[in-house]
Amino acid sequence: MKEVVSDPSFEARRFRDTLGHYASGITIIGGLEGDEPVGFTCQSFYSVSADPPLVSFSVMTNSTTYPRIRETGKFSVNVLSSGQHAVSNQFARKGTDKWAGIEWAPTAHRNPVIADTLMWLDCDLWAEHEAGDHYIVIGRVLEMSPPEWHKHEPLLYFKGQYRHLRDQGTQVG
Ligand SMILES: Cc1cc2nc3c(=O)[nH]c(=O)nc-3n(C[C@H](O)[C@H](O)[C@H](O)COP(=O)(O)O)c2cc1C
Repeated sequence: MKEVVSDPSFEARRFRDTLGHYASGITIIGGLEGDEPVGFTCQSFYSVSADPPLVSFSVMTNSTTYPRIRETGKFSVNVLSSGQHAVSNQFARKGTDKWAGIEWAPTAHRNPVIADTLMWLDCDLWAEHEAGDHYIVIGRVLEMSPPEWHKHEPLLYFKGQYRHLRDQGTQVG
């Protein structure tokens, strides 16, 4: 019988492909370094706790943007809307001017909020845990987008592609 040799690069690809079946939204995690906004595209965002209100995201330990956000001790979460796939691509490119052509404004807590998103959160950095090649970052939510902001459909990410909702939803329960 042939020996089964595991190819680590194959397993890494299979891990990515398998996990790609978990559909999600897309966010831009942002911070203000002085008056200069910084940010990066981030899929791995979720809510953690209601009391206190906590959310989390994971970021690669080799991110050049995240250490600049960490320095400020806070961050914004900009959840992208259906028309913003170009924004997602723009904020995923290392070493470029990610904010070129982006309309944004600072929140009261001085985090950047991008125009025309699905919703946004203003957070204080609550905790950070190293986990393999990522940091798990936890934030305490200080402020949220007001109800009148919420007028768009979401941008979805599934199996390595951007997707859009096809129907109006089905009642839970
Ligand atoms: C759809 C999509 C989702 C992404 N999700 C994450 C993520 O969850 N965590 C992460 O660290 N990087 C994620 N990235 C990659 C980062 O956006 C990218 O590596 C980052 O912008 C690198 O630039 P930096 O060195 O300026 O941080 C994602 C990229 C794309 C296109």
